[in-house]
Amino acid sequence: MTTTTIAHPEYNYKVVKQFALTTVFWGLIGMTVGVLIAAQLIWPALNFETPWLTFSRLRPLHTNAVIFAFGTSALFATSYYVVQRTCKVKLISDKVAAFTFWGWQAVIIAAVITLPMGLTTSKEYAELEWPIDILITIVWLAYAYVFLGTIAIRKTSHIYVANWFYAGFIITVAVLHLVNSAAIPVTLFKSYSIYSGAVDAMVQWWYGHNAVGFLLTAGFLGMMYYFVPKQAERPVYSYRLSVVHFWALISLYIWAGPHHLHYTALPDWTQSLGMVMSMILFIPSWGGMINGIMTLSGAWHKLRTDPILRFLIVSLSFYGMSTFEGPMMAIKSVNALSHYTDWTIGHVHSGALGWVAMVSIGALYHLIPRLYGKVDMASTKLINTHFWLHTVGVVLYIVAMWISGVMQGLMWRAVNSDGTLTYSFVQSLEASYPFYFVRFLGGLFVVAGMLVMVYNVVKTVRESKQVTAAA
Ligand code: HEM
Ligand code: HEM
Repeated sequence: MTTTTIAHPEYNYKVVKQFALTTVFWGLIGMTVGVLIAAQLIWPALNFETPWLTFSRLRPLHTNAVIFAFGTSALFATSYYVVQRTCKVKLISDKVAAFTFWGWQAVIIAAVITLPMGLTTSKEYAELEWPIDILITIVWLAYAYVFLGTIAIRKTSHIYVANWFYAGFIITVAVLHLVNSAAIPVTLFKSYSIYSGAVDAMVQWWYGHNAVGFLLTAGFLGMMYYFVPKQAERPVYSYRLSVVHFWALISLYIWAGPHHLHYTALPDWTQSLGMVMSMILFIPSWGGMINGIMTLSGAWHKLRTDPILRFLIVSLSFYGMSTFEGPMMAIKSVNALSHYTDWTIGHVHSGALGWVAMVSIGALYHLIPRLYGKVDMASTKLINTHFWLHTVGVVLYIVAMWISGVMQGLMWRAVNSDGTLTYSFVQSLEASYPFYFVRFLGGLFVVAGMLVMVYNVVKTVRESKQVTAAA
């Protein structure tokens, strides 16, 4: 066990610690709810005939918990850490930073209460009702002030590329939230969107897709650009490529939203534009992935002994996989098969569990001991155990969904020679059950890994306290 003190008292690590620990906590909760809804799709009786335990209410609870409680807390923690380290200056305001922590926890608690109650705007990933939306806006503006304000007072001449990605994520999410959540309140808990019909759908998926592009991608790329070189103890493979990656990614993502609305009432040309932009998006995405993975040039042997690096590099492989699959699914004729099926769910989780969760977990294992004045987590063996539990879980999940998704798509379009459907919907559902069970198993593996992480984190924090007390 290493006890070298490497904490920098001049930095604000308190808020980083708070967000880092809540990331682990909300990750466990959000993924456990994922396992519960995966189980409900096999055994519907698990809703216990209780309205707030039904799939329809717990599904948005799952997505909000994993994206906004787990994922976004990871982004808060790492962005506050990275901006201080790379700008060599303390956060611009401790008070406003503390406000962002407590304000964001209040948003999460409000989601945990209102979503199971069935209070929802019904817009996917923007389900929270208008009073909570206002709170989100205030907290987000405070976040932008702390992050961008810290960059403004930096003691370095250069702004490291990770900060560009974080800043792109923070600014774009603010714009997306403000535009998509514009609504007219009718009561304290009910509002109606100011958009209607096809325009409402277009705005919603402009938001939805860019929530993926800027929150689940750009923000985590910021994380990748700091923690991969740090853990590998190598400079970024190509700094020039990282800058090209940034500008190409942010200028392309914003146009790709219509691929969520193929064959709908949306004008045909917008669907084709969305398809083409999505296909071009493949190039910067892979540029970024290659840049991350190649950072390990000359240090590949470290993968054999360092499970944190394994988390980070495997996350990049999943990023590559999902950003190859996404452009393919954006092609209209492919989407005709994949849309409405479990293939989409497989794609989502190769991005979410493979890329987002793995890069966050890797970054947290690097970050947490350093926040507590240590170099290593209490147990490297347990990080390795977590790595294998998570990897096996993700593979079980996504392979099951790919097979089930393609099978569903083919069954739904199969016709007999007289033009009648070969299979009823119920037959396709019956055929999906074995795959739902494999997905459920995969989820159990992932949650088991999170429990191992909680144990390791608690042990690390405790040990650091004992060392401090003895000193
Ligand atoms: C133990 C891990 C997890 C399990 C078992 C799980 C399970 C599920 C299930 C059963 C669904 C509903 C699928 C359906 O409606 O057919 C779902 C949806 C979703 N999950 Fe997860 N999940 C897990 C982790 C995550 C993580 C870590 C993220 C994000 C960082 C995530 C993001 C999502 C999203 C965005 C959807 C909605 C997909 C869509 O509407 O197309 N999940 N999940
Ligand atoms: C080049 C990159 C990507 C492209 C072009 C892309 C494209 C697509 C397409 C075509 C769909 C299916 C839309 C439908 O049929 O309804 C989709 C769904 C989705 N993708 Fe991606 N994807 C990309 C990367 C990612 C990544 C990295 C993640 C996660 C971290 C992700 C998360 C999602 C989610 C959550 C959905 C489901 C949205 C919903 O219906 O609720 N995507 N994506």
